[in-house]
Amino acid sequence: MRWLGNKVQLLEEILLAGERAGFSGGTVCDLFAGSGTVGRFFRSRGYKVISTDLMHCSLAFQKVFLECPGPPSFEGIRDHWDNLEPLGADRIRNAQSFDSVTWEPFLKVIHFLEQELPSREGLLCRQFSPQGAADRRYLSPDNAGRLDAIIETIRNWRLQKKINEPEMWLLITCIIDAADRVANISGTYGAYLKNWQQNALNPLKLTAPALVQGPLGQANRLDAIDCIEEMECDLLYIDPPYNQRQYAANYHLPEVISLLPLEDSDAGIESQLYGKTGLLPWKDSASSLCSRRGTECRDAMASIISRAPAQGIVFSYSEEGILTRGEIEQMLEQWSVADVDVERECEKEQILHEIPYRRFRSDKEGRVSRTGSSRSFHPARGRSEDEVHEWLFAIKKLQEERC
Ligand SMILES: C[S@@+](CC[C@H](N)C(=O)[O-])C[C@H]1O[C@@H](n2cnc3c(N)ncnc32)[C@H](O)[C@@H]1O
Repeated sequence: MRWLGNKVQLLEEILLAGERAGFSGGTVCDLFAGSGTVGRFFRSRGYKVISTDLMHCSLAFQKVFLECPGPPSFEGIRDHWDNLEPLGADRIRNAQSFDSVTWEPFLKVIHFLEQELPSREGLLCRQFSPQGAADRRYLSPDNAGRLDAIIETIRNWRLQKKINEPEMWLLITCIIDAADRVANISGTYGAYLKNWQQNALNPLKLTAPALVQGPLGQANRLDAIDCIEEMECDLLYIDPPYNQRQYAANYHLPEVISLLPLEDSDAGIESQLYGKTGLLPWKDSASSLCSRRGTECRDAMASIISRAPAQGIVFSYSEEGILTRGEIEQMLEQWSVADVDVERECEKEQILHEIPYRRFRSDKEGRVSRTGSSRSFHPARGRSEDEVHEWLFAIKKLQEERC
């Protein structure tokens, strides 16, 4: 799915940076997994990946990309799909490394979910479509009704133990992705658009997530600050948020969609939604890495890095972020030499790459928003409005004998 700050265009660079940080095999930890793209990439290259993120919708993607052994058989719900035609191979376009025969049950299951289920008026219709009193325009009433029906069906299959965990997570990522493609937004879910975009009027279409083959990994929904000591790895990839935009406030609809099939009804979640955009309460779990208050962000990151049980670290950050380049370099250098008895100047092992990057513009053309106001950017000195540089630091832990 579209995820603010996703590194889909930097995967090879990250691997290269990892090699510069001394990584040649073993376990990779993706500490701020987001869309799960980085973990999926490392798994596809044959590495074991462990990962975490604060968001539940991220957990769904991590589960599928790291823990799913292959296309599921959906045996427990065979009655529903046995006599149906599989949908076209375009629905498994993203998951190329498996043959289409193994995807046949999935292609029939999505035929059932997409075309055989009657629409239902559930939470998404009431809270995120104009059918509800709040008139929120994230989803067309038609797509919201289809999604509500699919969510209820997955929930019932789970409650009746007709699908196993990998099957459930796979279906959940399918609906998050399908909803994302028809969402009436211009980047993140921080606001919906007043007028319907063409994509929002398209009918909902379920497709397979980009499953890869590789060693089984481990997905988590834990705060990086709390779990860092347990994330033992050969390479730690750190890609924290870099500004004040909290992901929970910008991806609440995918979060709600990922949670609903795990609830016994819509009621528990529906009663919590509030505000103009139907947010889930998030302030209690706000990330300190998004804070500009005092040294909160720097302290949190320093605490993560100082305790990281890794052999090498690759750290991504934007030059426009809360932390300065000097602050990051200092944290990484201190980590690198922490266990070494430094009597003479150690050889510097830190490498910094700067990668020019096109700015992620949640307002697409730079001027669409609910209020009609334009968002102005303050580019770094010497950069155009659309250009931002991404830093990629690579550093390895110095061993005692090296000094
Ligand atoms: C820049 S994004 C990561 C993008 C990811 N690398 C990708 O390719 O999609 C930062 C992520 O950090 C997560 N996050 C923020 N604070 C966190 C924390 N304290 N612990 C774990 N995850 C956190 C956010 O939910 C968000 O998904």
